[in-house]
Amino acid sequence: MRVDIITIFPDYFGTPAKGAGPLGVSLIGKAAARGELDFRLHDLRKWATDVHHTVDDTPFGGGPGMVMKPDVWGAALDDVLTGTGAVAAASAASAACAPLARLIVPTPSGTPFTQGHAAAYAAERRLVFACGRYEGIDSRVVADARSAMAVDEVSIGDYVLAGGEAAVCVILEAVCRLLPGVWGNEQSAADDSFGGGTGEEGDPMRGLLEGPVYTRPRSWRGREVPPVLLSGDHKAIARWRRDEALRRTAAVRPDLVSQMISGTAGGAAILDARDRTVLAEAGFPVDGESMAH
Ligand code: ADE
Repeated sequence: MRVDIITIFPDYFGTPAKGAGPLGVSLIGKAAARGELDFRLHDLRKWATDVHHTVDDTPFGGGPGMVMKPDVWGAALDDVLTGTGAVAAASAASAACAPLARLIVPTPSGTPFTQGHAAAYAAERRLVFACGRYEGIDSRVVADARSAMAVDEVSIGDYVLAGGEAAVCVILEAVCRLLPGVWGNEQSAADDSFGGGTGEEGDPMRGLLEGPVYTRPRSWRGREVPPVLLSGDHKAIARWRRDEALRRTAAVRPDLVSQMISGTAGGAAILDARDRTVLAEAGFPVDGESMAH
């Protein structure tokens, strides 16, 4: 997969090819070293035309802060996507070359980024990230790009960062670990909270948070590993894990349990009698009429 990142702070990402920075270490860094991930960093200021390399200007209509200039972003995107720098022919050039890429613009006003987005992005051959700073990018840039390609404006959470760079790292880590060959143990990705990265239908843990995990020693500071995990009874272990996942989800993400019960992730029909007992104990009585068993 090729990943282009346009930013005024390319140094934020280090030098992935040399094993440095957030994209150069761990499994992502190894995949980059093998050539499976091709990261290209672009300094937005390269496309600024004045001597000061200005990328922002005051907002029309007044208000605080600065807005990133559409002419600079238009030229950058044209160049990165199509290899042309023709600002005037922006849409025409983009459309003619039909870039096989998805443009991702991290912004606090975007759609919440989810595991579903991560899975969709992992299936793309090319991703292009546009990192905004200040009060954001002139809105015509996204409107113009949409005429030529898929564009997602995504938020990684309900808080405001100083810029999109940290969000790009978060999104790329979620995406790259789903790529075949990047993550050593594919089953480990498939067992995640939210049903395994792909959120596949029929996944028993779909829509649930992962419960507690343990490793050796069996006893540590007087705290024991739950005996069922040492029993070798795989059915009982799977049931215990699901109980714990249901309890944890009910405790920390009641919204996910409500979603599950109301049908977004398969509906109450995916809940068996034991699930209903656990959820009722956790304060979520499930309507008996839609019971599967
Ligand atoms: N840029 C600034 N804040 C952001 C957020 N919460 N998500 C994505 N991009 C951002």
